Amino acid sequence: MIDKIKEHIAEVEKFTTKAKEDIENFRIKYLGKKGLLKEFFAEFKNVPNEQKKEFGQIVNQLQKAAQEKVNALKEVLENNVEEKSVYGDLTRPAEPIEIGARHPISLVKNQITDIFSRIGFNVSEGPEIEDDWHNFTALNLPEYHPARDMQDTFFIQTNPDILLRTHTSSVQVRYMENNQPPIRTISPGRVYRNEVISARSHCFFHQIEGLYIDKDVSFADLKQTLQHFTKEMFGKSKIRLRPSYFPFTEPSAEIDVYWGLETETDHKITKGTGWLEIGGCGMVDPNVLTNCGIDPEEYSGFAFGVGIDRIAMLLHQIGDIRLLSENDVRFLAQFKSAL
Ligand code: DAH
Repeated sequence: MIDKIKEHIAEVEKFTTKAKEDIENFRIKYLGKKGLLKEFFAEFKNVPNEQKKEFGQIVNQLQKAAQEKVNALKEVLENNVEEKSVYGDLTRPAEPIEIGARHPISLVKNQITDIFSRIGFNVSEGPEIEDDWHNFTALNLPEYHPARDMQDTFFIQTNPDILLRTHTSSVQVRYMENNQPPIRTISPGRVYRNEVISARSHCFFHQIEGLYIDKDVSFADLKQTLQHFTKEMFGKSKIRLRPSYFPFTEPSAEIDVYWGLETETDHKITKGTGWLEIGGCGMVDPNVLTNCGIDPEEYSGFAFGVGIDRIAMLLHQIGDIRLLSENDVRFLAQFKSAL
């Protein structure tokens, strides 16, 4: 009898399986209500007295071995199930996801392009590394023209014909060279000027250029378009076109928006005048049209350029232009809730 139980112990120790039913059958066979252990314990009373001690120990040993084996196999089985599952525990709470924020320059650029898209303007872009023709000469700024000094330019040292564009007006030229009127396009982009970096000016910033060329386009159309823009953008439709000079437009004007003088901030940003300058504009000079292959006898048009950084600073109350290019996440994260 004792030898038989010892064989069972060896069998139990050898036993292995990965199937759930086999473990359960194994458990029933040894530990079940009608299992072998029950039988052996029942046998106890028939065992001669001198063997009772050894018999008891060996049966206990079998019971322990069987119980441990069942526990061990179950554990392996449960761990395996977890490893095999593709999604893990679907009821676990999700990992928190950090939501990004758009850069304030992108926010304002998108707002402006949206406003103009709704009145039929498309969006065009040009290269930041430009040639002299597109940045200056075609825009009625021939070599040695004094107005070139209005914009301190970064030239490529080995080739003075190549430069970093000083304004997005260069995209006007490229667009007109490749498209015939009617033209309605706006061109957002980064521009570069050799200026001292401070809280108010930087050596690179962003502009949006607008261009409208068709038959019989007038200065009144220009004013209406700008008025529509300032109404949509700032909720303010009182504007003033102050006579100015740009070589590529004639007549030319500076665009001022009436901001009001209600709050202390209004006083501060308008220097006490109530008026805020947002860009330049004018009727495209016939020389520019000719340079770009458009007949000025047949067509006329207007153009304008506004600074994106200034508007972003104004709308989001950013006091230092350098924040816009320092990539400080503490600054950028503040725009999470913006559009
Ligand atoms: N390009 C000018 C600048 O950077 C802005 C500008 C003025 C653009 C008048 C225009 C315009 O298209 O008509 O200062």
